[in-house]
Amino acid sequence: MKGIASILLLIAITFANSLQIVDKSSISNEIYRFEPNWDSLDSRELPKWYDEAKIGIFIHWGVYSVPSFGSEWFWSNWRTTNVTEYIDYMKVNYKPGFTYQEFARDFTGEHFNATEWVNLFVQSGAKYVVLTSKHHDGYTLWPSKYSFSWNSVDVGLHRDVIRELAEAVRSDNHLRFGLYHSLFEWYNPMYISDKASEFSQNEFVEKKILPELKELVMNYKPEVIWSDGEWEASYEYWNATEFLSWLYNDSPVADTVVSNDRWGHETLCHHGGFFTCVDRYNPGVLQPHKWENAMTLDKLSWGHRNNAKLDDFLTSQELIRELVATVSCGGNILINVGPDRSGIIQPIFVERLRDMGKWLRVNGEAIYESKPWIYQNDTITPNVWYTSSSTSQTQRRNVYAIVLDYPFDSENVELFSLFGRTDENTTISLLGYPHILQWSVVNNSVLVKFPNKAQLDKRGLNLAWTLKIDVPVEQIPDNFV
Ligand SMILES: *[C@@H]1O[C@H](CO)[C@@H](O)[C@H](O)[C@H]1NC(C)=O
Ligand SMILES: *[C@@H]1O[C@H](CO)[C@@H](O)[C@H](O)[C@H]1NC(C)=O
Ligand SMILES: *[C@@H]1O[C@H](CO)[C@@H](O)[C@H](O)[C@H]1NC(C)=O
Ligand SMILES: *[C@@H]1O[C@H](CO)[C@@H](O)[C@H](O)[C@H]1NC(C)=O
Ligand SMILES: *[C@@H]1O[C@H](CO)[C@@H](O)[C@H](O)[C@H]1NC(C)=O
Ligand SMILES: *[C@@H]1O[C@H](CO)[C@@H](O)[C@H](O)[C@H]1NC(C)=O
Repeated sequence: MKGIASILLLIAITFANSLQIVDKSSISNEIYRFEPNWDSLDSRELPKWYDEAKIGIFIHWGVYSVPSFGSEWFWSNWRTTNVTEYIDYMKVNYKPGFTYQEFARDFTGEHFNATEWVNLFVQSGAKYVVLTSKHHDGYTLWPSKYSFSWNSVDVGLHRDVIRELAEAVRSDNHLRFGLYHSLFEWYNPMYISDKASEFSQNEFVEKKILPELKELVMNYKPEVIWSDGEWEASYEYWNATEFLSWLYNDSPVADTVVSNDRWGHETLCHHGGFFTCVDRYNPGVLQPHKWENAMTLDKLSWGHRNNAKLDDFLTSQELIRELVATVSCGGNILINVGPDRSGIIQPIFVERLRDMGKWLRVNGEAIYESKPWIYQNDTITPNVWYTSSSTSQTQRRNVYAIVLDYPFDSENVELFSLFGRTDENTTISLLGYPHILQWSVVNNSVLVKFPNKAQLDKRGLNLAWTLKIDVPVEQIPDNFV
């Protein structure tokens, strides 16, 4: 018995191993090697986890969280742009001659608990997290060999923030771990000297940026590289295509990593992995290329700022609207929070993220792994956005119409974009509500009788309501199936 069982086990293991090997080589490294040019790099398909995930959390945390005034551009606004408010703020609150670097010792993170952050992000329904490994001030949240004395182990917390967060993310197992990285550094002398040569030399890139990016990837294995700070120079200066070909061919995350489009002043919205185009990009129409809406809950800043007003924060309803419009048009949403210098994520962010999580636990079927539908928003009824289920084996498919405004006046929702696509077997339900809804075809529209508001409130269904409509596959044009 034992002998047979172990032989069977051995066969099973061998079979599994051989499957794995075949699988891996057919995906990337062995068969195809990416070359350091955009034709080759742009041909890489994004690993599919990224499109399925839809929602990520962005974290801006660094020395700028100490003055916590204005935005994460504090140093530059104060010392380069010379914005009056910043100059006055420093004059009133700090002794003359105080430098930005002196803020670092107060970047103490005494309440930073990576497990608590991860628990919150998981509760929010997000599927990946992207942390600022280094912003434009050059301070690194890991003990980089290339950032001597200007990193979170030498000054400030005296902790390796990236390691702590990466470990908490991986031991929880619900999220993918990613890193933001700024290519340029406002005041790095090597960068300033390269810039003075009009980028004809690239000492800064060869001696600092490439080694530090590789150090990040080798040590922490991020599955998102969210590049930024590229715009003053071309991708050639940044050696971006060389780095990306290494990342996709030879790095330990070659098969699963995704990156964005911020690799040189000519690449934004044109080359790279997913497109970010501009901050808070939300085009409102279907895009031909996978994209991401990187946005903030505090509308005016990525980093924490003490001078934020209540009205500066997106409400939970506004957050859901942004999420829904983004996903309908084929995008992912990357929602930014700015923890304070002590490592606390303020309750206003927590509330917004928990509200989203609660909404997603009911409505997530219309979001995660969804595909855009033929129409993104309804042609006549405002604030109704569509998604659809990925193709299944069956002859029918679900279309989701996410209704952002409760129809108080009519208690009906008129879906023009569904006309002619339903059949006698179509059922319409509302996610989280136990009864099938009544519907009819009227005036070239599908008219859906909405449940009474009190019945929805009673079940905690709020912020937006998802109608689930099953339609025959034949009714959908080929390119959408
Ligand atoms: C800001 O002030 C610095 C010196 O304090 C000066 O070098 C720089 O040119 C000023 N910037 C602007 C935009 O005026
Ligand atoms: C971090 O938070 C977790 C979850 O709340 C808790 O179990 C753990 O004890 C905390 N760690 C520290 C060092 O406080
Ligand atoms: C970086 O690019 C320059 C040309 O812009 C090239 O001379 C150099 O060899 C590249 N360095 C690496 C490490 O790829
Ligand atoms: C659909 O969305 C776009 C972009 O947000 C908007 O301009 C348009 O008015 C919307 N259409 C309707 C009917 O709401
Ligand atoms: C509706 O379902 C019934 C029962 O499964 C089936 O016989 C009929 O062909 C279906 N109608 C359409 C239009 O598919
Ligand atoms: C259908 O259209 C007619 C004429 O335009 C209009 O009077 C009627 O109210 C419409 N019915 C519905 C349910 O929208």
